[in-house]
Amino acid sequence: MTTTHEMIARQQPLETEFGYRSTAADVISGRDLAGRRAIVTGGYSGLGIETVRALATAGVSVTVPARRVEVAEAALEELPGVEVAAMDLGDLDSVAAFTAGVREAASSIDLVIDVAGIMATPFQLTPQGWESQFGTNHLGHFALVGGIADLLSEGARVVSYSSVGHYRSPVLFDDINFESATYDPWVAYGQAKTANALFAVGLDARAASRGIHAYSVHPGGIMTDLQRHMPTEELLQRGWVDAEGNPNPLFKTAAEGAATGLWAATAPELLDRGGVYCEDSSIKGVVADDHSDPATGGVKRWAIDADAADRLWDLSVAATGLDPFRDARSATLTVPA
Ligand SMILES: NC(=O)c1ccc[n+]([C@@H]2O[C@H](COP(=O)([O-])OP(=O)(O)OC[C@H]3O[C@@H](n4cnc5c(N)ncnc54)[C@H](OP(=O)(O)O)[C@@H]3O)[C@@H](O)[C@H]2O)c1
Repeated sequence: MTTTHEMIARQQPLETEFGYRSTAADVISGRDLAGRRAIVTGGYSGLGIETVRALATAGVSVTVPARRVEVAEAALEELPGVEVAAMDLGDLDSVAAFTAGVREAASSIDLVIDVAGIMATPFQLTPQGWESQFGTNHLGHFALVGGIADLLSEGARVVSYSSVGHYRSPVLFDDINFESATYDPWVAYGQAKTANALFAVGLDARAASRGIHAYSVHPGGIMTDLQRHMPTEELLQRGWVDAEGNPNPLFKTAAEGAATGLWAATAPELLDRGGVYCEDSSIKGVVADDHSDPATGGVKRWAIDADAADRLWDLSVAATGLDPFRDARSATLTVPA
């Protein structure tokens, strides 16, 4: 299995031909994607719809799981080769029903881009009893990928949307549901986004031997529906909007925000860097645990720590009843006599 030492080596900065203002169309220009099959969660708004637009334009067949099916169908009706199916990521039973449908309809999947997410929500538990940001952003995606893992083709990639919000918190293994600590919506978001990054580490460690790789991304700052739970005063105080409601010009557009995820899904230079955290269609390196400036980029060690990724994997297996790539793990655990 991959060690933290290896992850830190893979996370060394990598400059590419792309950057902060590259768009979804820029990063997949020239990539041969026609005929591939993809699942894109959250693919009906914000960064997700720009991801789907770029993939559909490149000839990829895309399934978009949606908790609001009619809204998704209306948003996507003009894009070719895109279908919508019902799924609520916050409910593991709903995710299981979706993956059962995929298994009936498709024999292989080449790309899973886990864009969907909720941020800074009021405290709520999922039907299975998990704090909702952890349950939706992480466990829902673990169950999705776990439910179709054996359909992933050789060369397939899984991209997990993390965030610089991971700076707020490691996974709080002793109190994931805030039963002891007072609930803080931003700490809960940070925990969930760290989990999104660790999922890529854990998945790549188990799937790479089958030619399947996983990566996490910070897409940049983009004004979308994600901020729906933030009061206007907080948006103003953080400088995300001005008094007239205009977004800070330093924010990316949605098409720019979708670039890094698509770059991670397709870039050949990432083949030997499985599990890394990407931003601005590049890799920015590791920052100290107490680093707090989101503008510099970089990932905290707790989000690429292989031991934390294993611990999260075991917890997720127990929570979902799914144990994807179990054979790969048992092979690595075999101790020679
Ligand atoms: N925007 C930023 O500045 C920023 C920065 C860093 C990271 N990110 C990450 O980027 C990702 C996309 O964010 P965005 O800005 O595009 O936000 P967005 O416009 O709010 O899109 C989020 C999508 O996720 C879907 N979703 C939420 N809960 C779901 C559930 N329980 N089941 C199924 N779908 C669900 C939403 O569907 P509904 O509309 O039906 O709720 C929506 O389609 C998120 O993972 C976020 O953490 C964004």
